[in-house]
Amino acid sequence: MSDVKTLAIEKLKLLNPEYPELIEAIVVANKKIYLSLKTDKTKIDIFTRIKLQIEKELSAIDGIDSVSVSLTSHSESMQSKADTRAVTSGISEVRNIISVASGKGGVGKSTISINLAVAINQLGFSVGLLDADVYGPSIPKLVGDRQKPKKSKAGKILPIQKYNISLMSIGFLVPEDSPMIWRGPMVITAVSQMLNDVEWGQLDYLIVDMPPGTGDVQLTMAQRVPMSGAVIVSTPQDLALIDAIKGIEMFKKVNVPILGMIENMSTFICPNCKNESHIFGFEGAKVEAKNQNVDFLGDIPLEIDLRECSDNGKPIMLSKTDSTVSKKFLEIAKLVKSKIEDNSNSEKPNIIIN
Ligand SMILES: Nc1ncnc2c1ncn2[C@@H]1O[C@H](COP(=O)(O)OP(=O)(O)OP(=O)(O)O)[C@@H](O)[C@H]1O
Ligand SMILES: [Mg+2]
Repeated sequence: MSDVKTLAIEKLKLLNPEYPELIEAIVVANKKIYLSLKTDKTKIDIFTRIKLQIEKELSAIDGIDSVSVSLTSHSESMQSKADTRAVTSGISEVRNIISVASGKGGVGKSTISINLAVAINQLGFSVGLLDADVYGPSIPKLVGDRQKPKKSKAGKILPIQKYNISLMSIGFLVPEDSPMIWRGPMVITAVSQMLNDVEWGQLDYLIVDMPPGTGDVQLTMAQRVPMSGAVIVSTPQDLALIDAIKGIEMFKKVNVPILGMIENMSTFICPNCKNESHIFGFEGAKVEAKNQNVDFLGDIPLEIDLRECSDNGKPIMLSKTDSTVSKKFLEIAKLVKSKIEDNSNSEKPNIIIN
């Protein structure tokens, strides 16, 4: 993959010896090239032409399925911008981006995202969590914090630090009760800004808590964000599984590897009589993972403790470390980590900053 990166830069040089100078960040992942170009916003027509020209040229590279060039303009002059280049692209020092998704709403993506983030951190990795759900942000509630993010010296937004995780959510930026009435493209812009204009710094893992559905917003994100893989969450019931399959297909279409499926709310053990019941069915996600030829990462039971810890703003991974659920999250985190390591041995996202 690093050959692809070198080849891409060579090709840009051939198109125009000055083009490599414009590169702010270049990422090669999952047969895609993501290129961010410094743009002079007074010459947007010219830069739009350059973008199309580069996309066409780089698409011809062997083994590359698509190329996404984004134009970034900054208020400072190009010269002064050079001084802050190291932080121009917020995710340039993030090694792995993992999205937690499901076609269906309310199946536990956010609950799993925060606990997975904590679990991976407990394995000794630096972790960030991006709440990509701008219509219904959950992360501030799940970590019991609504402080406003501060700005860095370079003018970027600093993520909120809580429980040893770097966090960003639109919920930290707008009041809790203000409705989000944005259209699709604005949502994409908001999420892009939370990736690019936030100083994520060096992270081993960035978990992205995806919004429900498989519409334009999710598809565009899966295309534009250099994801190392996706974790699909589903309850065992057919209705949720149908949507989970749509999610799997969406990620497959854009060549984001599916790391596996998690079955949430898999079983319920009555705290009084200890009887086990399968409120949303039994092992549906496990069976479907097999049908879809994706790994099954584990199951999380329907548990009052899990819901209560979430509502109290302290994830169960930190509140009840010895609980069965916490142990299950830790096992899932280990599997996710080893899947990522396996994948990256064959295909490593490669990020350079010019
Ligand atoms: N295993 C579980 N046991 C008990 N409660 C759970 C479990 N998983 C999730 N919940 C609860 O279910 C509700 C929905 O979970 P969550 O917000 O994580 O779902 P989501 O998929 O992120 O929803 P949305 O699609 O709206 O973003 C929350 O109240 C959460 O506390
Ligand atoms: Mg959610």
